[in-house]
Amino acid sequence: MTLARDSSPAISSQQQAAEQALTDTVVNSFDNAPNERLKQLLQGLTQHLHAFIREERLTEAEWNAAIEFLTQAGHITDEKRQEFILLSDVLGASMQTIAVNNEAYENATEATVFGPFFVDDAPQIPIGGDIAGGAPGQPCWVEGTVVGTNGAPVPGARIEVWEADEDGFYDVQYADDRVAGRAFLYSDDNGRFSFWGLTPTPYPIPHDGPVGRMLAAVGRSPMRASHLHFMITAPGKRTLVTHIFVQGDPLLASDSVFGVKESLVKNFEQQAAITPTPDGRDLSGATWSCVRFDVVLAPEGV
Ligand code: BEZ
Ligand code: FE
Repeated sequence: MTLARDSSPAISSQQQAAEQALTDTVVNSFDNAPNERLKQLLQGLTQHLHAFIREERLTEAEWNAAIEFLTQAGHITDEKRQEFILLSDVLGASMQTIAVNNEAYENATEATVFGPFFVDDAPQIPIGGDIAGGAPGQPCWVEGTVVGTNGAPVPGARIEVWEADEDGFYDVQYADDRVAGRAFLYSDDNGRFSFWGLTPTPYPIPHDGPVGRMLAAVGRSPMRASHLHFMITAPGKRTLVTHIFVQGDPLLASDSVFGVKESLVKNFEQQAAITPTPDGRDLSGATWSCVRFDVVLAPEGV
């Protein structure tokens, strides 16, 4: 691969000095910002952005194309479609931010990408309830415990769960106002939880906008590995945003948003239709699956 910087003619010392002077001027323009953190971030952003432009010898046409791309991302974004989260995700910026802010702590469960499909007002279900809300898909029994890193159960942990249906769509992607494939529940006095969901299936991130066109232009697939989303909060514990992934899914190695971590890949065991369900639910002759997800929460502030 030939990078522009390799093939550019040598840059004269006079030109380099002029470019550096501009960077310095812009960095210094933030010197009097009253908020120290804002100053640090804007000065850092300026340094990195200018370095990118200078190292890549960015053309004006390329910079205009970048602005046009961001403009398109803005135009397609609304209350239900968030193109900038998709952009952050496919560039690995979401996962890098998660890595920086969720340093491995003892045996705590690993975090992964949040995605754009969480909504705040999902319905509550009891332990053993069903999150499907009529969404099509193979029933999946999910059970586990929530404990701290010392192994002590965490009762009353709030467990938010959300997932796509077997057609690869979240409820919010449909034009009606359905609420399906999402709910929250609380762990019991022993930290245990269980619920019925759907066996996760692979789906593409929304790719009919600028981010999808960018992926197509570079030969990257928009497909996400099959997964079930969790967000678990409990007093005194670090909030955990994560997924579990399906062991054996061929997409595990090429998740479009780089969200897969080995520790989050679980065995979704397929069950024959004749196998009795854990809670006696009658599935009218349908096959089902079951998976165990034991969660370890790190203490808050680590
Ligand atoms: C999701 O898993 O729901 C998701 C994550 C990142 C981008 C698009 C979708
Ligand atoms: Fe998802």
